[in-house]
Amino acid sequence: MKNGIETGNGRLVGLDLGTSNVSFVVCEEQPERGIELLGIGVRPSQGMQKGMVSNIDTLVDSIVEAKSVAEQMAMCEIDRVFVGITGSHIRGTNSTGVVAIRGAEVTENDIERVSESAQAVPISSNEMLLHTISQQYIIDGQPGIQHPLGMCGVRLEAKVHVVAGSASPIENILKCVRLCDIEVEGVILNHIASGQAVLSDDEKTLGVAMLDIGEGTTDLALYSEGSIVHSATFPFAGIHITQDIAVSLHTPTEEANRVKKHYGSAISRNMGSDETFELIVIGDSQPSRAHRRYLAEVIEARLEEIFLMVREHLQKSGQTELIRAGLVLTGGTSKMVDISRLANRILNVPVRLGTANYSGELSELVKDPGYSTGIGLCEYGHFLRREGTDLINKERQEVSEGMKHRVSGAFRKLFMREHPSVYQSHSQ
Ligand SMILES: Nc1ncnc2c1ncn2[C@@H]1O[C@H](COP(=O)(O)OP(=O)(O)OP(=O)(O)O)[C@@H](O)[C@H]1O
Ligand SMILES: [Mg+2]
Repeated sequence: MKNGIETGNGRLVGLDLGTSNVSFVVCEEQPERGIELLGIGVRPSQGMQKGMVSNIDTLVDSIVEAKSVAEQMAMCEIDRVFVGITGSHIRGTNSTGVVAIRGAEVTENDIERVSESAQAVPISSNEMLLHTISQQYIIDGQPGIQHPLGMCGVRLEAKVHVVAGSASPIENILKCVRLCDIEVEGVILNHIASGQAVLSDDEKTLGVAMLDIGEGTTDLALYSEGSIVHSATFPFAGIHITQDIAVSLHTPTEEANRVKKHYGSAISRNMGSDETFELIVIGDSQPSRAHRRYLAEVIEARLEEIFLMVREHLQKSGQTELIRAGLVLTGGTSKMVDISRLANRILNVPVRLGTANYSGELSELVKDPGYSTGIGLCEYGHFLRREGTDLINKERQEVSEGMKHRVSGAFRKLFMREHPSVYQSHSQ
């Protein structure tokens, strides 16, 4: 007990530093049952834009406020977190490593060597490695192997997804968290966290795209054969819809955000031409009225642009055909009326809205698509902690202190562990 508040080793906290909200999600690890939600703390975010810190002081204040709300609700002290990272600086690369199997069958040493070879992707001196995620092993041309240990063969290949990001934006985030007297237990890509929270194992195996449309960024993650194969971040999301409305209807930003949520729709032709709503117009002392169809036209134009950008990106990456299970939308902007119909019209795949799959105690608290990243940070953090958190921690500290950007032993070991489906299933 500290200050009358309980502390505990089984606590697991996710910290989502969004452009719109700072959210803490506090969970507890349960033997054999994954994680159980204890509480959340959400405050408006000041000082965070599109995954980058724009003002240290205001961001620290937002974190401190949200932390206090979460601590009161969860009745525990928060001293360490898994923090989410996103931004246009994030780079995901698929890589393959090949080694000759030394004996008659695959040993731990062969797996270590092949993982080392696979993660030898060029990382520049101002980048930091975030994840090396195992996709599959191939022995003598036979693909789809998840457990190569003990198998016979001559040639062992490993396919991995390596995620790296610019060191400075990540260092700034770590600095702000530490200024709040919170230790960073791990850094997790937001896309991976949201995917963990909202996608089913079946979808990941069949092939699915997840789009987390927030306030400042739209995060795309593509899964196939159970593993992430592609990730990207687009710097357009809810704030751009709000700004378009503010300009088009000549209304203050706060009012634009309000009318967007209350009267907006992603498909304008579904809106009756005579439906109107009341709003404040800049410079007018009396409220005015505007047409809902016009509001929807403004929203539709921006969302269409975002989905077209995603479509073009997928086409360029040559991975459209992997999306056999369709698209899952999450993030606060996915609450826009008719957004899944618009996405379906443009991307021509089945679309569903995704909230956290978590179904334990207090699950209604996180059944908002804005909290997908926060709960996913806890779920993925739980997986990492079980499979080798100390290694990550050690590595993060080394990276942080010495600005060491090259991969070494801890990540090599993690390579074998960061593939959820390889090991016992975690809390989904
Ligand atoms: N009902 C709604 N309809 C449309 N948009 C909504 C609705 N509710 C919230 N939003 C929008 O969702 C956005 C916030 O989403 P979210 O909380 O996922 O963002 P964030 O995680 O803080 O930001 P980011 O991840 O982009 O940095 C805001 O733009 C907000 O206006
Ligand atoms: Mg977000």
